[in-house]
Parts: sequence; C-alpha cells; structure tokens
Amino acid sequence: MLRFFPQKNKYVQEEAEFLFDEKGPIPKHIAVIMDGNGRWAQNRRLPRIAGHKEGMETVKRITKHASKLGVKVLTLYAFSTENWKRPTDEVNFLMQLPVDFFDVFVPELIEENVKVQVMGYKKLLPEHTQKAVKDAIEQTKDNTGMVLNFALNYGSRAEIVTAVQEIAKEIETNQLQSTEITEETIADHLMTNFLSKDLRDPELVIRTSGEERISNFLLWQIAYSELFFTQALWPDFTPNLLEAAIASFQNRDRRFGGLKETT
Ligand code: FPP
Repeated sequence: MLRFFPQKNKYVQEEAEFLFDEKGPIPKHIAVIMDGNGRWAQNRRLPRIAGHKEGMETVKRITKHASKLGVKVLTLYAFSTENWKRPTDEVNFLMQLPVDFFDVFVPELIEENVKVQVMGYKKLLPEHTQKAVKDAIEQTKDNTGMVLNFALNYGSRAEIVTAVQEIAKEIETNQLQSTEITEETIADHLMTNFLSKDLRDPELVIRTSGEERISNFLLWQIAYSELFFTQALWPDFTPNLLEAAIASFQNRDRRFGGLKETT
C-alpha cells in the first residue's frame, strides 16, 4: 500500500503493513496483472524479452505458493487483445512462452494437482501456442486442486461485446426473452463461465510495477474485488509479497454496498 506522509509530501510504499494470517480468510480467486517485465529487463540493460522469461519463473513460484495457501483460482493476465500492438519480435516471444512454460512445468502442475485453463480469443493465437494450451488443459483436466487460469489474447470489452452478441442471438432465435436478462445471464456468457458461480469473480486483484489501472481486465467480474497495487516489478514479485497482498485483503472491510455488521 502507498501511504501519504503530508510532512514529507511524499508517498511511501508499505507492503508489510499487515501481518499475513494463514488461518485467516484466503481469497478464493486471485487475479493478477503481471506488469513490469520490460522495465525489469531495461533496469539490467537486457532486452525486454529477458524480462518476460524471468516473469515466467515468477509465474511458477507464485502458482505453487498460491496453491499451497489454498487459493482456488489464480487468473494471470498474460497477453491482452491490445498486446498485438507490440513489436513483432516481442509478440512472437510472448506467443512462444506458453509452449516453453507448459513443456517444462506441466509435470509439476500435475504433481501439485493444479488444473490449467485458458480464457481469451484462443482461435486467433498462432497454431503452436494453441497446441501448447490445448495439451496443457488436456493433461491437467483431471486435477482437482487450484485452477491456474491464463488470460491469453483476452480483453474485457471484447468479452462483453461477444457476450452481448450471443445474448442477442438467443433473443433472435427465441431461446430467451429480453425481459429475462439478468446479471446472471451476462455472467453466464462471459469467459469466466467455466468456473462455478461462487468462483467467477476475483476477490483480490493484484497489479505489480506501480501502475494503478485495470487495463481492460475482467471489468464485469471485479465490481467488488479488493485491489492491491505494489511497486514490485513482476519478475521481483515473491511469495512473501503474495502473502502481503493477502494480509492487506484480510484487513479490508468488505461491505458489497451494504453497511458494516454491528454486534
Ligand atoms: C507486462 O509487462 C507483461 C506482459 C505483457 C506479459 C506477461 C507474461 C508473463 C509474465 C509470462 C507469462 C507466462 C506464460 C506461461 C504465458 P510489460 O512488458 O508491459 O512491462 P513494462 O510495463 O515494464 O514494459
């Protein structure tokens, strides 16, 4: 958390303000905007792709730790529908990452009982990326532990447009009346619909690298999520920082628009 000190007229990062309580509530669904790979590399005078490679190692560490803590769903924003605007070399590297990642990491994911899922416009991914994703989903489909959900070629506005188009089609074909549309109808048509209803919306969203914006990520699903921003760049994000984010979550007063319960 960034705290403002008026005497110094500056903000100071205070990550470990709260103590993590492993017996306290653990967010069932954590979503992460993994930002700062490029800066991590630039700080070391390395090419940007070195940052993405290191970021992949962080994904492994955080996946294992989240699973150990009892998180049910970990959604990671790996590539947005807007990321195609990056230089071709970087895009190609990012499209190769899932291949390398799943190649090496699937056996460990199976050992950890983690189930892989991928949400996004998968058909627009290169063939080799699609195959890596399909194989990882298939190889881990019987796992019953944490769901590791990659948002790959994902954009929330596009997702909402697709949902509206599908709903409109159902109305056109008389499968649905417009008066029957509820919030649940919309949620049922979003890409998180493979999750059970109680798991679809992240309880905690983490963004690394000091940027404090949502960048077209799960706009519908985060209506009541707690947000945690850290200065750490994604390759520097550690299991301890994950616990700091959860500690912060554990100290939030979640009211969902209502009033605090009084005893
Ligand atoms: C944002 O950092 C990060 C990305 C666009 C890619 C994230 C991907 C990974 C961490 C690896 C994912 C692993 C798998 C298995 C898919 P940035 O490049 O925008 O950083 P910057 O803001 O410092 O430039």
